[in-house]
Amino acid sequence: MQSLTAEATKTQKSQSTPKKTSETDKRFKTLDITIKRNHYRQDALIEILHKAQESFGYLEPEVLEYVARQLKLPLSRVYGVATFYHLFSLKPSGAHSCVVCLGTACYVKGSGKIMAALEEELGIKAGETTPDDKISLMAARCLGACGIAPAIVFDGTVAGKQEPEMVLERIKAWQSKT
Ligand code: FES
Repeated sequence: MQSLTAEATKTQKSQSTPKKTSETDKRFKTLDITIKRNHYRQDALIEILHKAQESFGYLEPEVLEYVARQLKLPLSRVYGVATFYHLFSLKPSGAHSCVVCLGTACYVKGSGKIMAALEEELGIKAGETTPDDKISLMAARCLGACGIAPAIVFDGTVAGKQEPEMVLERIKAWQSKT
């Protein structure tokens, strides 16, 4: 019994601090598919980064490192390309980030309504940050979590089966913190 409890605690712990890999984060799986489809070609870097941004909302360091590893490119090269093109966003400027999936599966389950509610509450559009620099709102095309649609990423953690009220509650908690 004791070992069962210990095992459960261990599982809970590992679930609360998941390491982001293609095994634990389905967005990396989606990225893998794109990389494979491009046959790991280094000259497909821009296209791959574009797809990565669609999945993640922005290009966080872990994603850039992952792409560099998979394409066997120096990280500096990947950073160089990601910072050169204005269409790439390296990080949300807000203290908190909220990425709403507008991919088909999520959209039919209401993510469009969630985005509209967020835009109204925050007074900004997708791709923008609130004037107080607290919250950045972004859109993604598919997070690779269609089974739990509609999916939203709050500060890098994917949450499924979201509804406008739940999302607004979360946002308001961020807003109320000083
Ligand atoms: S469409 Fe939203 S996770 Fe796939």
